[in-house]
Amino acid sequence: MTHIRASITGIQGYVPDYILTNAELETMVATNDEWIVSRTGIKERHILKGEGLGSSHMGAEAVKGLLAKTNTLPSEIDLLICATTTPDFVFPCTANLICDMVGIKNVGSFDIQAACSGFVYALTLGSQFIETGKYKKIVIVGADKMSAIVDYTDRKTCILFGDGAGAVLLEPDTEGNGIIDSIIKSDGSGYPYLHQKGGGSRYPPTHETVDQRLHHVYQDGSQVFKFAVTNMADISAEIMVKNGLSGDDVAWLVPHQANRRIIEATANRMGVGMNKVMVNIQKYGNTTSATIPLCLWDYESQLKKGDNLVLAAFGGGFTWGSIYLKWAYGE
Ligand code: UT7
Repeated sequence: MTHIRASITGIQGYVPDYILTNAELETMVATNDEWIVSRTGIKERHILKGEGLGSSHMGAEAVKGLLAKTNTLPSEIDLLICATTTPDFVFPCTANLICDMVGIKNVGSFDIQAACSGFVYALTLGSQFIETGKYKKIVIVGADKMSAIVDYTDRKTCILFGDGAGAVLLEPDTEGNGIIDSIIKSDGSGYPYLHQKGGGSRYPPTHETVDQRLHHVYQDGSQVFKFAVTNMADISAEIMVKNGLSGDDVAWLVPHQANRRIIEATANRMGVGMNKVMVNIQKYGNTTSATIPLCLWDYESQLKKGDNLVLAAFGGGFTWGSIYLKWAYGE
């Protein structure tokens, strides 16, 4: 029996028009372009403006573009999974809203919340439905409006994040391309270092939680940095060893874009030169669930059928993961 793998057969990104530069941030908090660029690699990020627009707006724009680009009708989609940490509402989930906005009806849709590892988690999950033969066309979305939860009075976090979305189409592949392996991990004891303190069931919204600014991203940056460097590099090395890959075999590392220094450490550990690493942190910042699909979108024209890609992410939870796949299209 031919083994069915799940291949990415299309990719589309979306970033909102407004660009928040380091120069504008200098007018908001005590920071400067030199510090931000040297410590993170970020020069600018896109911000979603507009009353009543949430992550679903960006996710739906990405999905609409994906369907048009791949000549796929909404009625052909069997399932949609959205990775997001900034859902439009506590409920219903953002995936339900995206389906409605793009005309995907009467199929299952749900969100995955794994912070910055969300897209790797969602792709891992979605691929299972293809591999078992249950579904033929699945859309995986990563969408985050981080500006909704960023505290623009906190210089330690407000310089890091941006808004954006990306979507991929997953289809069965029997030619040997597609997702070959994935590893996902988590450690909830890491939550104190990176989380949003208020607004959930532990500390529901009150006047006090708002006054104490608990509805924003809290991060102990240097602690998260240590865990991120170790775990993203380790899990990338682990998937290479497991699949007998050397640095030379890897065509592209597709890392979560949280900090250029974390990306460089991961590439170094894998024995992959920076010329084979997708980096777009300079123009989008950290878009959480959207970083990896936005990388694939930006680099799509350089990808060739059969290229070995390693996706790697680390984020709040802590969560981390890696995926080894063979790209399925491109000359
Ligand atoms: O995607 C989810 C996972 N998240 C991550 O992977 C993020 C991991 N962490 C990081 O990327 C880095 O820790 C940061 C970029 C957040 C911070 O860089 P750092 O090199 O760890 O700096 P730090 O937090 O140790 O701060 C160094 C200094 C401090 O000043 P003092 O105490 O040494 O006087 C900060 O107050 O830099 C200061 N600082 C700033 N200065 C100018 C912190 N933020 C800023 C700023 N502008 N925006």
